[in-house]
Amino acid sequence: MAADAFVSQLNEQIAQEFAAHQQYVACATYYDGETLPQLARFFYRQALEERDHAMMMVQYLLDADAEVVIPGVAAPQVAFSDVVAPVSLALAQERRVTEQINALAGTARDERDFTSEQFMQWFIKEQVEEVATMSDLLRVVERSRDDPMEVENFMAREHSGGAADDPTAPNAAGAGA
Ligand SMILES: [Fe+2]
Ligand SMILES: [Fe+2]
Repeated sequence: MAADAFVSQLNEQIAQEFAAHQQYVACATYYDGETLPQLARFFYRQALEERDHAMMMVQYLLDADAEVVIPGVAAPQVAFSDVVAPVSLALAQERRVTEQINALAGTARDERDFTSEQFMQWFIKEQVEEVATMSDLLRVVERSRDDPMEVENFMAREHSGGAADDPTAPNAAGAGA
């Protein structure tokens, strides 16, 4: 049995992950409009990862026989002042999500809900990677503010492969559909 406090907090997090999906689609669309296809591709892919996070949480609640509420989602920011802005927004978002994920693990522990605490471990590791990726990207995009082709070349070199399948990732609802 997942603890009630954890279940309602995880339902809130599902909304955050779907909102992150929408935000990254908005970032990708902005870059596509600026004809920066590598940055666009990166954010389209990040968006799909956020959707997966939400669906992993949905699956967890289904498996735990807990209530799942598919949420409405906050509107993303769609206008950006320059090519750096979407990345700094993304880094701030990943830092915020890291705090939320840690808080979820904390609630699970306080409630002695060790199954849920263990479920959160994968997300803790994932957040370390996402914050690191975004802060690297912020450094590069800031350096190439005057010549965005530099960051495009960097993305083509460093982020061209698709996301590798992670066998330790929790199951996402509907993934086998
Ligand atoms: Fe996420
Ligand atoms: Fe993320």
